[in-house]
Amino acid sequence: MSSANHRTGLSTRAIHAGRDVDDPGAPVVPPIVQSATFMGGGHRADEILYTRYGNNPLQLSVGEKLASLEGAPAALVLGSGMAAIAMTLLSLTRTGDHIVAASHLYGATRALLENELPRRGVQTTFVDPSEGRNWRRALRKKTRLFYLEAPTNPTLRLFDPRPVSKLAHDRGLPLVMDATFATPVNFRARELGVDVVLHSATKYLGGHSDLIAGAVVGDRALVEEIGSTARLYGPAADPHMVWLLDRGLRTLGVRMERHNRNALALAEFLEAHPRVKSVSYPGLPSHPDHDLAREIFPGFGGMLSFVARGGGRGADQVMQSLELARVAPSLGGVETLVSQPRYTSHAGMTRDARAALGIPDGFIRVSVGIEDVDDLIADFDRALRG
Ligand SMILES: Cc1ncc(COP(=O)(O)O)c(C=O)c1O
Repeated sequence: MSSANHRTGLSTRAIHAGRDVDDPGAPVVPPIVQSATFMGGGHRADEILYTRYGNNPLQLSVGEKLASLEGAPAALVLGSGMAAIAMTLLSLTRTGDHIVAASHLYGATRALLENELPRRGVQTTFVDPSEGRNWRRALRKKTRLFYLEAPTNPTLRLFDPRPVSKLAHDRGLPLVMDATFATPVNFRARELGVDVVLHSATKYLGGHSDLIAGAVVGDRALVEEIGSTARLYGPAADPHMVWLLDRGLRTLGVRMERHNRNALALAEFLEAHPRVKSVSYPGLPSHPDHDLAREIFPGFGGMLSFVARGGGRGADQVMQSLELARVAPSLGGVETLVSQPRYTSHAGMTRDARAALGIPDGFIRVSVGIEDVDDLIADFDRALRG
């Protein structure tokens, strides 16, 4: 047990949860336990400590910290966000089963559901998540779980998990949600009825664009079952990565406050800019889900998108002219990153199909970092003016 219990604040837990060592001479910073295996425990399988099993001491303590941050009984750290998603879906389904998932999903998650799971006899119905009745209509006898993601990439739409969770729970099904963009600082998933919270910890939880990791958070029995699947498939979290993740988590609270503040300021600036057609940021009153964001998001997040005037060529020009913001995929690090979905996540679609999703040419996604916001605003202003 740790001295940071569920009554302490989130930043306190991000620093102290999962570790309760105060012996004289003990290191203040938890050491990297860079060992594949551990002595003893040769008699019973459940006594064996082995890093692929997820019971390396640092894996366990960071798991405890992640559980504490989400206010859940248990958590598991894995080798990537996709590992967390895949192990969860494989654990909760068998051949012949069915999943109902929101149509707005991270591309690889969509591919996993659409192309990979059917090879194992598991089918998915994708629904527009904004209407409760869509979820109800898609239900089948063999439906085993509901799957949701919010805010969505790259249009930053939000969906209320509460009605979906109620419908799921009425039928004894779990609601699984990818809350990568939101983080436990900006979104209290468990309090809103989510059973299994998934994260690409590569993003905000790690926070420095220097590691690949995933997290599964939920009730102990479910997390243990997902952990058993992970033991077989093997996407374990490397001890050094877990140490970096723990280091990143300790500043999660202050980083998120700054991401939230910088993104709101940049969004307001861009919305008033003559070279910008539109801005999508849940913190702006113009966002279609602004009221919901105010209700269920303690912070509006560090992601925003905007449409530059001049279409694709205009956006290319802006991207080339930015000096501080880096052109790169991914998100959630301390540095500002920009990307155009037409070259990255949505490259496989036609221009019209993208436009129908709210991603016209000219659309730029920004992962707003924690730089001084005046410098960021000046960078975007200069790049937009060309
Ligand atoms: C919302 C979301 N979920 C999951 C993932 C996958 O995470 P990872 O790259 O850590 O496997 C990503 C990656 O971009 C993501 O944006």
